[in-house]
Amino acid sequence: MTAKPITLQELPTDLRPDRLPQHVAVIMDGNGRWAKKQGLPRIMGHRRGVDTLKELLRCCKDWGIGALTAYAFSTENWGRPQEEVNFLMMLFERVLRQELREMMQEDVQIEFVGNLNALPESLQQEIAKSVDETRHNTGTKFRVATNYGGRQEIIHACQAIAPKCNKVTSSPRKLTKRSLNAISTPPEPVTQTC
Ligand code: FPP
Repeated sequence: MTAKPITLQELPTDLRPDRLPQHVAVIMDGNGRWAKKQGLPRIMGHRRGVDTLKELLRCCKDWGIGALTAYAFSTENWGRPQEEVNFLMMLFERVLRQELREMMQEDVQIEFVGNLNALPESLQQEIAKSVDETRHNTGTKFRVATNYGGRQEIIHACQAIAPKCNKVTSSPRKLTKRSLNAISTPPEPVTQTC
């Protein structure tokens, strides 16, 4: 998934293979500030951010790090100037479209987390396509958090719990991490009570 070839592959000598993490997560931040420092418009910072993300994905692949999560767009980011939000949505869509073939070649499996329903329809389609086409890839897992947020997650959990578990309202202490997990991401029909 590289714009220009990056000749990495070798692990730098000061990194010990046995100390490498299995999963790296990055919050994409500072794009705008970086651009400002260079005397460039903020959107150039986001473009550069994409290049950096590609380099990171390349590092993960070459160094055997199994998963990369990028926190790319939070619920708070909707508060950016409309022009910038529009640009970011377009950038997401374009990157996905342009990089899908290379992700297939590189055996990357892409996943999205967050509330995707609020994203533009065309972006949702591009996301669905890239997730679907890469779902059987077994190499690096690349997870993109889009329209994510702590408050949003709490709301989702409450929405998932409310219809299934009326005991929560009468005795909230009965709610445990285990029952919350079981209810909010059920692998099978939920039979557990709170
Ligand atoms: C924060 O930097 C970054 C963002 C709000 C967007 C980052 C997303 C991308 C570059 C697109 C990635 C695309 C895919 C498909 C994964 P900032 O503007 O908050 O920087 P600042 O803190 O300097 O203002």
